[in-house]
Amino acid sequence: MPSSHPSVGGSTAAPRAWHIVGARPNFMKMAPVFRALDGRLSQVVVHTGQHYDWKMSGIFFQELGVSAPDINLEVGSGTHAVQTAEVMMRLEPLLMERRPDVMIVYGDVNSTVAASLVCSKLGIRVAHVEAGLRSRDRGMPEEINRIVTDALSDILFTPSEDGNANLAAEGVDPSKVHFVGNVMIDTLIRLLPQARADAVLAALGISGPYILVTLHRPSNVDSLETLAPLLEVLATLADTMPVIFPVHPRTKAQIGRANLTLPAGLHLAEPLGYLDFLALQRGAALVVTDSGGIQEETTYLGVPCLTVRENTERPVTISHGTNRLVGRDPARLLAEATRVLAEPPVRLGPPPLWDGHAGERIADILLRAWP
Ligand code: UD1
Repeated sequence: MPSSHPSVGGSTAAPRAWHIVGARPNFMKMAPVFRALDGRLSQVVVHTGQHYDWKMSGIFFQELGVSAPDINLEVGSGTHAVQTAEVMMRLEPLLMERRPDVMIVYGDVNSTVAASLVCSKLGIRVAHVEAGLRSRDRGMPEEINRIVTDALSDILFTPSEDGNANLAAEGVDPSKVHFVGNVMIDTLIRLLPQARADAVLAALGISGPYILVTLHRPSNVDSLETLAPLLEVLATLADTMPVIFPVHPRTKAQIGRANLTLPAGLHLAEPLGYLDFLALQRGAALVVTDSGGIQEETTYLGVPCLTVRENTERPVTISHGTNRLVGRDPARLLAEATRVLAEPPVRLGPPPLWDGHAGERIADILLRAWP
Protein backbone atom coordinates (compact mmCIF):
# COMPACT_ATOMS: atom_id res chain seq x y z
CA MET A 1 0.00 0.00 0.00
CA PRO A 2 1.53 3.36 -0.96
CA SER A 3 2.24 5.88 1.74
CA SER A 4 4.45 8.88 2.07
CA HIS A 5 3.60 9.23 5.75
CA PRO A 6 6.33 8.38 8.25
CA SER A 7 3.74 7.71 10.97
CA VAL A 8 2.79 4.35 9.46
CA GLY A 9 5.69 2.58 7.83
CA GLY A 10 7.82 0.19 9.87
CA SER A 11 5.68 0.19 13.01
CA THR A 12 5.62 -3.18 14.76
CA ALA A 13 2.91 -2.27 17.30
CA ALA A 14 -0.71 -3.33 16.61
CA PRO A 15 -2.02 -0.85 14.06
CA ARG A 16 -4.65 1.58 15.29
CA ALA A 17 -7.55 2.52 13.08
CA TRP A 18 -9.97 5.32 13.85
CA HIS A 19 -13.33 5.64 12.16
CA ILE A 20 -15.04 8.99 11.75
CA VAL A 21 -18.82 9.09 11.44
CA GLY A 22 -21.24 11.94 11.86
CA ALA A 23 -24.43 11.69 9.87
CA ARG A 24 -27.07 9.02 9.41
CA PRO A 25 -25.78 7.35 6.22
CA ASN A 26 -22.29 6.94 7.70
CA PHE A 27 -23.37 4.47 10.33
CA MET A 28 -24.47 1.64 8.02
CA LYS A 29 -21.30 2.12 5.99
CA MET A 30 -19.01 1.86 9.00
CA ALA A 31 -20.67 -1.21 10.56
CA PRO A 32 -19.33 -3.84 8.12
CA VAL A 33 -15.82 -2.38 8.10
CA PHE A 34 -15.77 -2.27 11.90
CA ARG A 35 -16.98 -5.87 12.10
CA ALA A 36 -14.43 -7.10 9.58
CA LEU A 37 -11.58 -5.41 11.47
CA ASP A 38 -12.80 -6.49 14.89
CA GLY A 39 -10.11 -8.37 16.80
CA ARG A 40 -7.56 -7.75 14.02
CA LEU A 41 -6.46 -4.27 15.04
CA SER A 42 -7.32 -1.67 17.64
CA GLN A 43 -10.31 0.49 16.67
CA VAL A 44 -11.71 3.78 17.91
CA VAL A 45 -15.03 5.20 16.69
CA VAL A 46 -15.32 8.98 16.68
CA HIS A 47 -18.82 10.43 16.23
CA THR A 48 -18.68 14.08 15.29
CA GLY A 49 -22.21 14.74 16.52
CA GLN A 50 -23.27 16.21 13.14
CA HIS A 51 -26.45 14.21 13.67
CA TYR A 52 -27.46 13.97 17.31
CA ASP A 53 -31.18 13.07 17.62
CA TRP A 54 -31.85 9.49 18.70
CA LYS A 55 -33.80 8.86 15.48
CA MET A 56 -30.99 10.26 13.31
CA SER A 57 -28.11 8.62 15.16
CA GLY A 58 -28.37 6.55 18.37
CA ILE A 59 -30.94 4.05 17.09
CA PHE A 60 -28.57 3.04 14.26
CA PHE A 61 -25.75 2.04 16.60
CA GLN A 62 -28.23 -0.11 18.50
CA GLU A 63 -29.73 -1.77 15.42
CA LEU A 64 -26.44 -2.23 13.59
CA GLY A 65 -24.84 -3.87 16.59
CA VAL A 66 -21.99 -1.36 16.73
CA SER A 67 -20.89 -0.31 20.19
CA ALA A 68 -21.47 3.29 21.19
CA PRO A 69 -18.85 5.73 19.85
CA ASP A 70 -15.68 5.98 21.93
CA ILE A 71 -15.55 9.74 21.41
CA ASN A 72 -18.33 12.21 20.59
CA LEU A 73 -17.25 15.63 19.38
CA GLU A 74 -20.80 17.01 19.79
CA VAL A 75 -20.51 19.58 17.02
CA GLY A 76 -24.25 19.67 16.26
CA SER A 77 -25.82 21.70 13.47
CA GLY A 78 -24.52 24.84 11.79
CA THR A 79 -23.63 26.31 8.45
CA HIS A 80 -21.27 24.24 6.34
CA ALA A 81 -18.25 26.30 7.38
CA VAL A 82 -19.18 26.23 11.06
CA GLN A 83 -19.93 22.51 11.13
CA THR A 84 -16.76 21.62 9.20
CA ALA A 85 -14.60 23.94 11.27
CA GLU A 86 -16.00 22.65 14.56
CA VAL A 87 -15.16 19.07 13.60
CA MET A 88 -11.65 20.13 12.61
CA MET A 89 -11.01 22.13 15.76
CA ARG A 90 -12.28 19.42 18.09
CA LEU A 91 -10.58 16.55 16.27
CA GLU A 92 -7.11 18.02 15.79
CA PRO A 93 -5.94 18.00 19.44
CA LEU A 94 -7.14 14.41 19.90
CA LEU A 95 -5.23 13.28 16.84
CA MET A 96 -2.10 15.19 17.81
CA GLU A 97 -2.11 13.38 21.10
CA ARG A 98 -3.14 9.89 20.02
CA ARG A 99 -1.97 9.64 16.40
CA PRO A 100 -3.80 6.65 14.92
CA ASP A 101 -2.18 4.85 11.99
CA VAL A 102 -5.16 5.36 9.73
CA MET A 103 -8.39 7.36 9.75
CA ILE A 104 -11.23 5.64 7.92
CA VAL A 105 -13.75 8.15 6.56
CA TYR A 106 -17.10 7.37 4.93
CA GLY A 107 -19.20 8.85 2.17
CA ASP A 108 -19.51 12.55 1.49
CA VAL A 109 -20.82 14.42 4.50
CA ASN A 110 -19.22 17.44 6.16
CA SER A 111 -17.70 15.25 8.89
CA THR A 112 -15.92 13.22 6.20
CA VAL A 113 -14.18 16.15 4.57
CA ALA A 114 -13.38 17.80 7.91
CA ALA A 115 -11.59 14.72 9.25
CA SER A 116 -9.74 14.23 5.97
CA LEU A 117 -8.39 17.77 6.08
CA VAL A 118 -7.15 17.45 9.65
CA CYS A 119 -5.56 14.03 9.14
CA SER A 120 -3.82 14.82 5.90
CA LYS A 121 -2.12 17.86 7.45
CA LEU A 122 -1.03 15.82 10.47
CA GLY A 123 0.43 13.09 8.26
CA ILE A 124 -2.17 10.54 9.37
CA ARG A 125 -3.20 8.27 6.55
CA VAL A 126 -6.78 8.69 5.27
CA ALA A 127 -8.76 5.75 3.88
CA HIS A 128 -11.94 6.78 2.08
CA VAL A 129 -14.80 4.30 1.89
CA GLU A 130 -17.14 5.15 -1.02
CA ALA A 131 -14.52 6.98 -3.03
CA GLY A 132 -14.78 8.13 -6.63
CA LEU A 133 -18.50 8.91 -6.87
CA ARG A 134 -19.22 12.08 -8.86
CA SER A 135 -22.46 13.84 -9.72
CA ARG A 136 -20.54 16.59 -11.56
CA ASP A 137 -22.86 19.03 -9.82
CA ARG A 138 -20.89 21.39 -7.62
CA GLY A 139 -24.09 22.98 -6.42
CA MET A 140 -24.39 19.93 -4.23
CA PRO A 141 -22.36 20.29 -1.03
CA GLU A 142 -21.61 16.57 -1.03
CA GLU A 143 -19.87 16.84 -4.42
CA ILE A 144 -17.37 19.31 -2.98
CA ASN A 145 -16.84 16.97 -0.04
CA ARG A 146 -16.24 14.01 -2.38
CA ILE A 147 -13.71 15.83 -4.55
CA VAL A 148 -11.73 17.20 -1.61
CA THR A 149 -11.80 13.96 0.39
CA ASP A 150 -10.63 11.90 -2.57
CA ALA A 151 -7.86 14.37 -3.35
CA LEU A 152 -6.57 14.03 0.21
CA SER A 153 -7.01 10.29 0.65
CA ASP A 154 -4.15 7.81 0.68
CA ILE A 155 -6.31 4.72 0.15
CA LEU A 156 -9.53 4.92 -1.86
CA PHE A 157 -12.19 2.21 -1.77
CA THR A 158 -14.70 2.44 -4.62
CA PRO A 159 -18.18 0.88 -4.60
CA SER A 160 -18.48 0.67 -8.40
CA GLU A 161 -16.16 0.81 -11.38
CA ASP A 162 -17.32 4.26 -12.45
CA GLY A 163 -15.57 5.42 -9.27
CA ASN A 164 -12.25 4.08 -10.54
CA ALA A 165 -12.78 5.79 -13.89
CA ASN A 166 -13.62 9.11 -12.21
CA LEU A 167 -10.52 8.97 -10.03
CA ALA A 168 -8.30 8.03 -12.97
CA ALA A 169 -9.68 11.01 -14.90
CA GLU A 170 -8.72 13.26 -11.98
CA GLY A 171 -5.18 11.90 -11.99
CA VAL A 172 -5.38 9.82 -8.81
CA ASP A 173 -2.64 7.17 -8.72
CA PRO A 174 -4.47 3.90 -9.54
CA SER A 175 -2.32 1.97 -7.05
CA LYS A 176 -4.15 3.84 -4.27
CA VAL A 177 -7.60 2.85 -5.59
CA HIS A 178 -9.33 -0.43 -4.73
CA PHE A 179 -12.66 -1.52 -6.19
CA VAL A 180 -14.24 -3.33 -3.25
CA GLY A 181 -18.01 -3.08 -3.75
CA ASN A 182 -20.69 -1.49 -1.65
CA VAL A 183 -20.48 -1.55 2.15
CA MET A 184 -24.03 -0.25 2.54
CA ILE A 185 -25.23 -3.38 0.74
CA ASP A 186 -23.18 -5.50 3.18
CA THR A 187 -25.34 -4.12 5.98
CA LEU A 188 -28.53 -4.57 3.97
CA ILE A 189 -27.75 -8.23 3.22
CA ARG A 190 -26.90 -8.94 6.85
CA LEU A 191 -29.97 -7.31 8.36
CA LEU A 192 -32.66 -7.91 5.73
CA PRO A 193 -33.84 -11.16 7.39
CA GLN A 194 -34.55 -9.18 10.58
CA ALA A 195 -36.49 -6.39 8.87
CA ARG A 196 -40.28 -6.56 9.30
CA ALA A 197 -42.71 -3.87 8.18
CA ASP A 198 -45.79 -5.21 9.98
CA ALA A 199 -45.61 -2.97 13.05
CA VAL A 200 -45.03 0.27 11.14
CA LEU A 201 -47.72 -0.51 8.58
CA ALA A 202 -50.20 -1.49 11.30
CA ALA A 203 -49.46 1.74 13.19
CA LEU A 204 -50.21 3.70 10.01
CA GLY A 205 -53.30 1.60 9.22
CA ILE A 206 -51.91 0.47 5.85
CA SER A 207 -52.49 -3.03 4.51
CA GLY A 208 -52.15 -2.91 0.69
CA PRO A 209 -49.59 -1.45 -1.71
CA TYR A 210 -47.94 1.85 -0.78
CA ILE A 211 -45.42 4.39 -2.01
CA LEU A 212 -42.44 5.30 0.20
CA VAL A 213 -40.94 8.78 0.04
CA THR A 214 -37.88 10.57 1.43
CA LEU A 215 -36.81 14.10 0.53
CA HIS A 216 -34.11 16.02 2.34
CA ARG A 217 -31.71 17.57 -0.18
CA PRO A 218 -31.40 21.33 0.30
CA SER A 219 -32.12 21.78 -3.43
CA ASN A 220 -35.53 20.11 -2.97
CA VAL A 221 -36.64 21.16 0.46
CA ASP A 222 -35.00 24.45 1.43
CA SER A 223 -37.20 26.50 -0.88
CA LEU A 224 -40.95 26.25 -0.51
CA GLU A 225 -41.32 27.09 -4.20
CA THR A 226 -39.71 23.73 -5.00
CA LEU A 227 -41.05 21.69 -2.09
CA ALA A 228 -44.74 22.67 -2.23
CA PRO A 229 -45.35 21.42 -5.82
CA LEU A 230 -43.54 18.17 -4.97
CA LEU A 231 -45.84 17.72 -1.97
CA GLU A 232 -48.81 18.36 -4.25
CA VAL A 233 -47.68 15.49 -6.50
CA LEU A 234 -47.39 13.24 -3.46
CA ALA A 235 -50.91 14.28 -2.46
CA THR A 236 -52.16 13.34 -5.95
CA LEU A 237 -50.39 9.97 -5.75
CA ALA A 238 -51.96 9.44 -2.32
CA ASP A 239 -55.35 9.31 -4.07
CA THR A 240 -54.15 6.11 -5.78
CA MET A 241 -52.42 4.40 -2.86
CA PRO A 242 -51.10 5.44 0.56
CA VAL A 243 -47.85 7.43 0.59
CA ILE A 244 -45.53 6.99 3.59
CA PHE A 245 -43.13 9.89 4.08
CA PRO A 246 -40.72 9.66 7.04
CA VAL A 247 -39.64 13.27 7.33
CA HIS A 248 -36.03 14.38 7.82
CA PRO A 249 -35.62 17.26 10.34
CA ARG A 250 -34.55 19.64 7.55
CA THR A 251 -37.74 18.89 5.62
CA LYS A 252 -39.91 18.93 8.73
CA ALA A 253 -38.76 22.45 9.56
CA GLN A 254 -39.72 23.64 6.07
CA ILE A 255 -43.12 21.90 6.07
CA GLY A 256 -43.79 23.41 9.50
CA ARG A 257 -43.06 26.90 8.18
CA ALA A 258 -45.33 26.37 5.18
CA ASN A 259 -48.48 25.60 7.18
CA LEU A 260 -49.72 23.18 4.48
CA THR A 261 -52.87 21.08 4.61
CA LEU A 262 -51.97 17.50 3.74
CA PRO A 263 -54.37 14.87 2.40
CA ALA A 264 -55.34 11.85 4.52
CA GLY A 265 -53.49 9.38 2.27
CA LEU A 266 -50.17 11.15 2.78
CA HIS A 267 -48.71 9.75 6.00
CA LEU A 268 -45.96 11.96 7.38
CA ALA A 269 -43.89 10.08 9.94
CA GLU A 270 -40.89 10.70 12.14
CA PRO A 271 -37.53 9.46 10.77
CA LEU A 272 -37.50 5.67 11.02
CA GLY A 273 -34.84 3.29 12.26
CA TYR A 274 -32.79 1.22 9.85
CA LEU A 275 -34.76 -2.02 10.09
CA ASP A 276 -38.18 -0.38 9.77
CA PHE A 277 -37.10 1.67 6.79
CA LEU A 278 -35.45 -1.28 5.10
CA ALA A 279 -38.59 -3.36 5.54
CA LEU A 280 -40.71 -0.56 4.10
CA GLN A 281 -38.42 -0.29 1.07
CA ARG A 282 -38.61 -4.01 0.40
CA GLY A 283 -42.42 -3.93 0.39
CA ALA A 284 -42.95 -0.66 -1.48
CA ALA A 285 -44.64 -0.50 -4.88
CA LEU A 286 -42.50 2.56 -5.59
CA VAL A 287 -39.87 4.60 -3.76
CA VAL A 288 -39.51 8.34 -4.43
CA THR A 289 -36.32 9.82 -3.01
CA ASP A 290 -33.45 12.25 -3.31
CA SER A 291 -31.11 10.17 -1.13
CA GLY A 292 -27.97 8.50 -2.46
CA GLY A 293 -28.13 5.42 -0.27
CA ILE A 294 -31.77 4.71 -1.06
CA GLN A 295 -31.01 4.65 -4.79
CA GLU A 296 -28.53 1.88 -3.95
CA GLU A 297 -30.78 -0.06 -1.60
CA THR A 298 -33.72 -0.08 -4.03
CA THR A 299 -31.33 -1.23 -6.76
CA TYR A 300 -30.32 -4.22 -4.68
CA LEU A 301 -33.90 -4.96 -3.66
CA GLY A 302 -35.23 -4.54 -7.20
CA VAL A 303 -37.82 -2.00 -6.08
CA PRO A 304 -38.73 0.78 -8.55
CA CYS A 305 -37.12 4.08 -7.52
CA LEU A 306 -37.68 7.58 -8.86
CA THR A 307 -34.94 10.00 -7.88
CA VAL A 308 -35.97 13.63 -7.59
CA ARG A 309 -32.69 15.02 -8.83
CA GLU A 310 -31.20 16.14 -12.14
CA ASN A 311 -28.14 13.89 -11.75
CA THR A 312 -26.78 11.03 -9.71
CA GLU A 313 -23.30 10.16 -8.49
CA ARG A 314 -24.47 6.53 -8.54
CA PRO A 315 -25.00 5.73 -12.25
CA VAL A 316 -24.94 1.96 -11.66
CA THR A 317 -28.33 2.32 -9.98
CA ILE A 318 -29.64 3.25 -13.42
CA SER A 319 -27.49 0.98 -15.62
CA HIS A 320 -27.92 -2.07 -13.37
CA GLY A 321 -30.82 -1.12 -11.16
CA THR A 322 -34.36 0.09 -10.98
CA ASN A 323 -33.58 3.78 -10.50
CA ARG A 324 -34.71 6.62 -12.80
CA LEU A 325 -33.90 10.29 -12.56
CA VAL A 326 -36.98 12.50 -12.82
CA GLY A 327 -35.43 15.88 -12.04
CA ARG A 328 -37.33 18.38 -9.94
CA ASP A 329 -40.21 18.89 -12.34
CA PRO A 330 -43.40 17.88 -10.48
CA ALA A 331 -45.28 17.04 -13.70
CA ARG A 332 -42.52 14.66 -14.72
CA LEU A 333 -42.52 13.03 -11.29
CA LEU A 334 -46.26 12.43 -11.52
CA ALA A 335 -46.05 11.06 -15.08
CA GLU A 336 -43.12 8.75 -14.28
CA ALA A 337 -44.73 7.52 -11.04
CA THR A 338 -47.92 6.68 -12.90
CA ARG A 339 -45.97 4.89 -15.62
CA VAL A 340 -43.71 2.94 -13.24
CA LEU A 341 -46.63 1.82 -11.09
CA ALA A 342 -48.38 0.48 -14.22
CA GLU A 343 -45.23 -1.11 -15.63
CA PRO A 344 -42.47 -1.68 -13.05
CA PRO A 345 -38.90 -1.80 -14.43
CA VAL A 346 -37.18 -5.16 -14.67
CA ARG A 347 -34.52 -5.86 -12.07
CA LEU A 348 -31.20 -6.53 -13.77
CA GLY A 349 -29.44 -7.87 -10.69
CA PRO A 350 -27.03 -6.19 -8.33
CA PRO A 351 -23.98 -4.36 -9.68
CA PRO A 352 -20.62 -6.17 -9.47
CA LEU A 353 -19.31 -6.77 -5.92
CA TRP A 354 -22.54 -5.70 -4.24
CA ASP A 355 -22.38 -9.07 -2.57
CA GLY A 356 -22.20 -8.56 1.20
CA HIS A 357 -18.39 -8.82 1.42
CA ALA A 358 -17.11 -5.30 0.73
CA GLY A 359 -16.22 -4.73 4.40
CA GLU A 360 -14.07 -7.85 4.44
CA ARG A 361 -12.25 -6.77 1.29
CA ILE A 362 -11.56 -3.36 2.84
CA ALA A 363 -10.28 -4.95 6.06
CA ASP A 364 -7.93 -7.26 4.15
CA ILE A 365 -6.50 -4.40 2.12
CA LEU A 366 -6.04 -2.22 5.20
CA LEU A 367 -4.33 -5.01 7.10
CA ARG A 368 -1.94 -5.60 4.24
CA ALA A 369 -0.72 -2.06 4.88
CA TRP A 370 1.21 -3.27 7.89
CA PRO A 371 4.05 -5.77 7.68
C1 UD1 B 1 -26.47 15.57 6.00
C2 UD1 B 1 -25.47 15.39 4.85
C3 UD1 B 1 -26.16 14.70 3.69
C4 UD1 B 1 -26.81 13.42 4.10
C5 UD1 B 1 -27.76 13.71 5.25
C6 UD1 B 1 -28.45 12.48 5.75
C7 UD1 B 1 -23.74 17.11 4.61
C8 UD1 B 1 -23.31 18.25 3.79
N1 UD1 B 1 -24.97 16.68 4.37
O1 UD1 B 1 -27.46 16.45 5.55
O2 UD1 B 1 -25.17 14.40 2.70
O3 UD1 B 1 -27.51 12.87 3.01
O4 UD1 B 1 -27.01 14.30 6.32
O5 UD1 B 1 -29.41 12.79 6.69
O6 UD1 B 1 -22.98 16.64 5.42
N2 UD1 B 1 -31.08 18.13 12.50
C9 UD1 B 1 -31.81 17.67 13.57
N3 UD1 B 1 -31.34 16.57 14.23
C10 UD1 B 1 -30.22 15.93 13.87
C11 UD1 B 1 -29.48 16.41 12.78
C12 UD1 B 1 -29.92 17.50 12.10
O7 UD1 B 1 -32.83 18.22 13.92
O8 UD1 B 1 -29.87 14.93 14.51
C13 UD1 B 1 -31.57 19.29 11.73
C14 UD1 B 1 -30.91 20.59 12.08
O9 UD1 B 1 -31.89 21.57 12.08
C15 UD1 B 1 -29.96 20.83 10.93
C16 UD1 B 1 -30.67 20.15 9.77
O10 UD1 B 1 -31.36 19.04 10.36
O11 UD1 B 1 -29.73 22.16 10.71
C17 UD1 B 1 -29.75 19.62 8.71
O12 UD1 B 1 -28.70 18.82 9.28
P1 UD1 B 1 -27.24 18.84 8.63
O13 UD1 B 1 -26.34 17.94 9.39
O14 UD1 B 1 -26.81 20.24 8.43
O15 UD1 B 1 -27.45 18.27 7.17
P2 UD1 B 1 -28.44 17.18 6.59
O16 UD1 B 1 -29.47 17.87 5.79
O17 UD1 B 1 -28.90 16.22 7.63
